[in-house]
Amino acid sequence: CGIVGYVGERNSLDVLMGGLRRLEYRGYDSAGVAIVDDDGVIETAKRAGKLQVLADDLAATPLHEGGTGIGHTRWATHGGPTDRNAHPHLGDEGRLALIHNGIIENFAELKDELLAEGFTFESETDTEVAAVLLGREYRRIGELTEAFRATVSRLEGAFTLLAVHRNQPGVVVGARRNSPLVIGLGDGENFLGSDVAAFVEYTKRAVAIGQDQIVTITAEGVTVTDFDGESVEVEPFDVAWDASAAEKGGWSSFMRKEVSEQPEAVANTLRGRVVDGRVAIPELESFGDEELRGIRRITVIACGTAAYAGMVAKYAIEQWARVPVEVELSHEFRYREPVLDDGTLVVSISQSGETMDTLMAVKYAREMGARTISICNTQGATIPRESDAVVYTHAGPEVAVASTKAFVAQIAALYLFGLHLARVRGTLDDAALAENLAELQAVPEKLSTVLEQAERVEQLAHWMADTRSVLFLGRHVGYPIALEGALKLKELAYIHAEGFAAGELKHGPIALIEPGQPVFVVVPSPRGSANLHPKVVSNIQEIRARGARVIAIAEAGDAAVLPFADEVLRIPLAAPLFEPLLAVVPLQVFAMELAQAKGLDVDQPRNLAKSVTVE
Ligand code: G6P
Repeated sequence: CGIVGYVGERNSLDVLMGGLRRLEYRGYDSAGVAIVDDDGVIETAKRAGKLQVLADDLAATPLHEGGTGIGHTRWATHGGPTDRNAHPHLGDEGRLALIHNGIIENFAELKDELLAEGFTFESETDTEVAAVLLGREYRRIGELTEAFRATVSRLEGAFTLLAVHRNQPGVVVGARRNSPLVIGLGDGENFLGSDVAAFVEYTKRAVAIGQDQIVTITAEGVTVTDFDGESVEVEPFDVAWDASAAEKGGWSSFMRKEVSEQPEAVANTLRGRVVDGRVAIPELESFGDEELRGIRRITVIACGTAAYAGMVAKYAIEQWARVPVEVELSHEFRYREPVLDDGTLVVSISQSGETMDTLMAVKYAREMGARTISICNTQGATIPRESDAVVYTHAGPEVAVASTKAFVAQIAALYLFGLHLARVRGTLDDAALAENLAELQAVPEKLSTVLEQAERVEQLAHWMADTRSVLFLGRHVGYPIALEGALKLKELAYIHAEGFAAGELKHGPIALIEPGQPVFVVVPSPRGSANLHPKVVSNIQEIRARGARVIAIAEAGDAAVLPFADEVLRIPLAAPLFEPLLAVVPLQVFAMELAQAKGLDVDQPRNLAKSVTVE
């Protein structure tokens, strides 16, 4: 869900609606705004459904103009996605409006307390409880920032809250615990947003608000204090994204744009990080060579597509740096009492840097004494702030819910780290390092080649628009790619899809094969050392013999697959560990095209959120 706040000269509604549009990618099911004018009159509007529903409403029944406002997109948790449950919620008998991201865990108890005092409620939400509580505290204290301080001390759970009060036009107050909030510093105006995309159109100076802090913005300035009232020094940073990067710019969907940006995404992740034939990652300075040599185990934690990037990297890092790597889903890791010691390095991967499951896992790992590195795409996000070091992927804003360019950029960043580790630990010699770095640097151009051949995949997707089930097979680094291909198809086209390790086929999944069943097979290079190629070709023969329709993704010139495949999609030659960066592209395009052939919204698939900020 998304949050925007504004104080300044502009009509705040324009800023809020623009900001909410840029945050749409985070996923939501209702939207609302509150505007305060100079006379301190608050007007609100809120609607279930897409932002456009609210925009149409506002066009028909405009709100008054005002320079102070808050806007919200909601992803329902407590209470269904209805007009009434949408934010803002009112407190202090309509004198204050409040919006909220996250979950207030003790809301039932607080609601009972307030009901007993005679307060009434209009919605089922936990948010309205916070609004009414804030109203009560405002009545007592008479000042919004202090009323916030009294309120947050009563709340448990995760929240970002923003509120305005009619007695204080020109002021927006926010509080943050476990949910993101960033300040945008303007000239005679200031902004708040769940991330920098909310205001990057107006300013690129930003400040990330820390855990358990309260921020008060006016047109002239911002003040940040902690929950106890101690003032906090702010550290502004410059946002590297330009505003147009978060625009569709002529593409039919953000996803199509982002798929096509993959060469650039990888190039940007590598840029400046290979110097004189060596990996240079200044962000990792706090990890000295001695410490990197002492690592006995790496645990990668992530969710969704990011976890598959981790699985790909496991093969490379183990091969290069000879250190065991385990990859675990953040939500499983956190709750199974994992064994962590000072020889364990925890690497988290998250495009948004806000995924609550991953954030909680990182915090837990640190509590248990592990050192943590974050691979993240969003500057100023929470996970990097909670980690010992961050390697940003610099893929640019990813708006479509299904991750594409962030995935290849994550692998590129992890490969850089793996090669750095291998040099420091002395497990690869200079020649091998140089060879792998050259392979990595050749990826962007090869990605362009794969994209040029997308038309064939597009046709295939259109032919297969009625397909009800698709299987994906891969081995070694092709295995996580099979999993990712299946995830993409599920997310975008709502088709039953499963990925398997090709070697596991005979242990069960082969029973699924019946005549006509489409199966994508990621075929490893025949030049690979582990002799996997003939094994995968045998797997293809096994399923073909049982009637499967085989679509092989194979490197240019691999003729061995031709007699057994119904379709062959080609990728350029690359060393085996680098193939996943290329082989994933036809699978992304296939899922996107098939979803489009079915008339589905590829940027915002049903039920999904880009940034899942609840556990
Ligand atoms: C959601 C998205 C996935 C994404 C996952 C992890 O589930 O739908 O596409 O891979 O979150 O997101 P993160 O921001 O942590 O990479």
